[in-house]
Amino acid sequence: MKERIDPAIVPKRKLYTGEEIPCIGMGTFGSDRFTAEQVSSAVYGAIRYGYRLFDCAAVYQNEDQIGNVFEKAFREGIVAREELHITSKVWNDMHGQGDVLLSLAKTLKDLKLDYIDTFFVHWPFPNYHAPGCDGDSRNPNSRPFSVEEFMTTWKQMEQIQKMGLSRNIGMSNMTVAKLKKVLPLCEVKPALIEMELHPCFQQPELYDYCVEQGIQPVGFCPIGSPTRPDRDKTEGDIADIQVPELVEIAKAHDVHPAVICLKWAVQRGQVPIPFSIHENEYASNLKCTTEDPLSEEEMKTLAGIDKNCRLIKGQVFLWPGAKSWEDLWDLDGTITK
Ligand SMILES: NC(=O)c1ccc[n+]([C@@H]2O[C@H](COP(=O)([O-])OP(=O)(O)OC[C@H]3O[C@@H](n4cnc5c(N)ncnc54)[C@H](OP(=O)(O)O)[C@@H]3O)[C@@H](O)[C@H]2O)c1
Repeated sequence: MKERIDPAIVPKRKLYTGEEIPCIGMGTFGSDRFTAEQVSSAVYGAIRYGYRLFDCAAVYQNEDQIGNVFEKAFREGIVAREELHITSKVWNDMHGQGDVLLSLAKTLKDLKLDYIDTFFVHWPFPNYHAPGCDGDSRNPNSRPFSVEEFMTTWKQMEQIQKMGLSRNIGMSNMTVAKLKKVLPLCEVKPALIEMELHPCFQQPELYDYCVEQGIQPVGFCPIGSPTRPDRDKTEGDIADIQVPELVEIAKAHDVHPAVICLKWAVQRGQVPIPFSIHENEYASNLKCTTEDPLSEEEMKTLAGIDKNCRLIKGQVFLWPGAKSWEDLWDLDGTITK
């Protein structure tokens, strides 16, 4: 690799804790298509290229291999541990009393770290389904969101932060209705909240609510997840990178439409975490944050292509009696039971 980006020139976001993190990171979910080895070698290449933020999760089933490349990069002196912001997430089957610490212990062992930078609650439901199961599969023991159950999990998150095992704690796949109930009960507020964000799914209400609360939004599927598993594809889904206005802007900047999705995300203020195993792609994804910004007019055009098109609908988390995936997302502003 000839070129690299100096991490110092990548814009930063300041968390309410005072910590600064890069304005972009790399995702590590192989979408059931890419092997743990492909993903971990991309992580190694990305560290060398200049990435300093990596979004991991136990359920991606590749933390042990990614841990090997973190260890290698530290050993080779490519990067120091404190220069990386590494996140991971507790999966739905590990929400019970005592389980969060066990889950983090396993993640730390796999990633070969002695602390994580941000630990997220991956989904706000204790509803397990097997990784890779198809979209119709349901767990009969699944339950709707419960403030009490969620706070049992969150209290453990607060504890691991106090123990110094996670520098920050975060939530993921939340809604404004759920946040309004749980934030007043938190002793330690989440520093980051991960949510699906791309030009055709901008979630303005949730985004603005997090910003008002001083919480940094992190945007997953920032390119509209073109390689997502088939179980997450639904008729009527819109491909962000094919939307004519976006394609037009990409032509004007002489870049792939994916890059425009990321420039838009960074300039709006969220931290996108694009995934790619291809060096040319992950390189351009980081580089684009350091040059050739979008104009105000282009940002306005992109603000106008929101189509409220959620891609990761989460239907496998539904409980008996739930009507459809919309029940997970509290569309009428109250928590659906
Ligand atoms: N918290 C959660 O519940 C949650 C849920 C979903 C995802 N995530 C996180 O978010 C990350 C990103 O989401 P994602 O992987 O689903 O979607 P994504 O980043 O929107 O899309 C990834 C795909 O976009 C293509 N791509 C990337 N850079 C490109 C470029 N410069 N030019 C052209 N194509 C490009 C690649 O396809 P090709 O390989 O075909 O080139 C890649 O597989 C995940 O890896 C994971 O870490 C979190």
